[in-house]
Amino acid sequence: MIAIKTENLKKIYKFEGAEIEALKGIDLTIEEGDMVALMGPSGSGKSTLLHLIGGIDIPTEGKVYIKGEDIFSLNEKKLAVFRNNNIGFVFQFHYLLPEFTALENVMIPLQIYNKRDVEKKAKDLLDKLGLSHRIFHKPSQMSGGEQQRVAIARAIVNQPSILIADEPTGNLDSKNTETVMNILKDMNDNNNVTMIIATHDKDVANYCKRIIYLKDGMLAEE
Ligand SMILES: Nc1ncnc2c1ncn2[C@@H]1O[C@H](COP(=O)(O)OP(=O)(O)OP(=O)(O)O)[C@@H](O)[C@H]1O
Ligand SMILES: [Mg+2]
Repeated sequence: MIAIKTENLKKIYKFEGAEIEALKGIDLTIEEGDMVALMGPSGSGKSTLLHLIGGIDIPTEGKVYIKGEDIFSLNEKKLAVFRNNNIGFVFQFHYLLPEFTALENVMIPLQIYNKRDVEKKAKDLLDKLGLSHRIFHKPSQMSGGEQQRVAIARAIVNQPSILIADEPTGNLDSKNTETVMNILKDMNDNNNVTMIIATHDKDVANYCKRIIYLKDGMLAEE
């Protein structure tokens, strides 16, 4: 089964009358259960590609299929439901809700779907990520790396079948990077979660089964 497929995917940003071609026609296929590192220089289009695959931004041209579903043929509401049922997303800039504690931030996706044992699940995950002493802190009361781990917990608490992570360890020291990557690797090994992870870190890429490179909005060698 194919988890993620893009066809001639293009994104042009318009900025002060100029056009920036962030993606120039990406054809990418990722099999179910794969764990893929997405590497490439700053500005090469990694975040743009992940946002399109995650249905968070709209392509200028081309298609994205997630588990065979042409996601941009869905209306906004259906896309939101599809995304919530299938995809976990870790943003480069984590976007936690500032008014809520770490625990509440992690519980939010669970509550939407009325899962039972919501609080225990969220607490266990925060504990695994070394944050049991920070569950009642709000984002502004946590370090950058702590916030990043809360955002990771939020993205995986629903056990998505596809995880898209944009530099999930960008603010972490090597010990916490190892903790996070071991959790992700476990999810990939034991639950067959398909993953694509943008990173500048070779150690992170080495946890993955496949490494793809972006350069100037195009796929380079694997
Ligand atoms: N909203 C936007 N408007 C205009 N240009 C943008 C916008 N977002 C991104 N860009 C441009 O598109 C290109 C790709 O950006 P993108 O964020 O995808 O790069 P990246 O590979 O994720 O970089 P980094 O490693 O620094 O996170 C860059 O040249 C960037 O300046
Ligand atoms: Mg980026």
